[in-house]
Amino acid sequence: MVDFTHYLNDCKFILVSNREPYEHMKGERGLDVRQPPGGLVTALDPTMRRTHGTWVAWGSGTADREVSDELGRVPVPPGEDCYTLRRVWLNDADVNGYYHGFSNRALWPLCHMLIQHFEYRTEFWERYRTVNLRFAHAVADEAERCTGRAMAWIQDYHFALAAEFLRAMRPALFIHQFWHIPFPPPDIFTLLPTGTHEALLRGLLGNDLLEFQIDRYAQNFLDCVEKFIEEAHVDHARQVVNFRDRTTHVGAFPISIDVQRFEQMASSPDSQARVATLRERYAKGDRQLGVCVDRIDYTKGIPERIRALETLWTESAEMRGRFTFIFVCTPSRTDLKAYNTLEAEVVQSVIAINKRFGTSDWTPIVLINENVDSDLLAGVYRAADLCVVSSLQDGMNLVAKEFVACQIDERGVLILSRFTGSAEEIDGAVLINPFNIDGFMAAIRSALEMSAEERRRRMHRMRRQLHSSTIFDWLDSILDRASSIMGAQSAHAVA
Ligand code: ADP
Ligand code: F6P
Repeated sequence: MVDFTHYLNDCKFILVSNREPYEHMKGERGLDVRQPPGGLVTALDPTMRRTHGTWVAWGSGTADREVSDELGRVPVPPGEDCYTLRRVWLNDADVNGYYHGFSNRALWPLCHMLIQHFEYRTEFWERYRTVNLRFAHAVADEAERCTGRAMAWIQDYHFALAAEFLRAMRPALFIHQFWHIPFPPPDIFTLLPTGTHEALLRGLLGNDLLEFQIDRYAQNFLDCVEKFIEEAHVDHARQVVNFRDRTTHVGAFPISIDVQRFEQMASSPDSQARVATLRERYAKGDRQLGVCVDRIDYTKGIPERIRALETLWTESAEMRGRFTFIFVCTPSRTDLKAYNTLEAEVVQSVIAINKRFGTSDWTPIVLINENVDSDLLAGVYRAADLCVVSSLQDGMNLVAKEFVACQIDERGVLILSRFTGSAEEIDGAVLINPFNIDGFMAAIRSALEMSAEERRRRMHRMRRQLHSSTIFDWLDSILDRASSIMGAQSAHAVA
């Protein structure tokens, strides 16, 4: 097992993200605890359990205040108490401006290069700045409370300004940041108003190390710095930026999942029973079962997926009745119009397809429109003959890796958008361009027709690869890089 804890001897680990790993909710029968869906929480909770550090995040649950102390702190996971969660409280104006506004109406579409959804308002930007400052104060406070050294690890696009603020408060603190989503090239980044894109880049240059999912995003960042920050010197070959007497290192660190946990969930007796039930119901004889799992988000290519399936069933009557598709789609960011409209569109299209093609003994698409427990998901992944990930753009996409981890019978085919970070890492998937509906349809058909031997060969290769790049390998490689930079910084300070 990878052991990265030696990097943290005598060093307190402080992680900061917008989304918290556990939300306490007021339920009908008292307090409920839930884990919000999303790649960040799936990936980071297992690693935080081993660091015993502090996770600073927005307290978004309806009962969060009731269970936290006066600093907003609560031990988690509930009952296991492996690390501390420190909640930061946001009011409605903060949530609207910083989270819904600048993070999700401006940066999210911009970074995913889906600029028809891009929307900039000055009030969003101002609120984003004040909330970034507030989180920086919370992290600085956590660092002050520890006796030894501390390391701050910022997550994602919600906090592009936090490193610069934190640096001003704690100049010697080691600060690094993982950017979970794509980073756009200069021609897209420049759509932000003058001043804003420079401020974001300067904010990110407050980090000692800046981590991206794949090399292309790291290159895009360096190109943006070169184009928009005149005083910065960019060394593309070494992936280093010198700015204001400081150095920021940049690199690619593809995120992963807790592979063993997903395998264990998929092989549990409950999962086995679930697999048997699902296959009996949907995949008997020569019938096959497809699955997809996403937050309902316009980046995920859900309408394109529905269109590809509709085209297949329209053009190839022999494919009707031959396979059933389970859509596990959880509503997401429902306060935003673009997300609400999409959810309604998805539900309507599924109803229309089922009406058009369904028969008394066959429902083409089974829609599970909710957040499903991961052990249940593991059974569905294992039962499936194919999994479709059709993102129009995606930083990594962990669903693809979860499917591979759960495919312990090596029966399934992964159909994967070439516009995901995963497509650059996983070798063995059937790659698609989700904008090309006919090509997409042909890929589904070829997956359905693929021989058992070919499926096994591909899945075996993907599984072997995944075993050597788990979430623990990912954190190990980041901490290894961080500690070598820290070592070089101390040597420089002494000399
Ligand atoms: P993103 O970070 O954009 O949400 P990822 O594919 O990287 O995309 O991660 C999504 C995570 O959320 C995965 O761990 C997946 O299992 C989980 N998830 C997505 N949809 C659901 C759902 N309907 N129910 C439960 N978990 C979900
Ligand atoms: O992985 C990208 C990401 O934005 C995470 O930061 C986030 O937790 C996840 O998608 C889900 O989005 P949200 O936290 O806005 O529900």
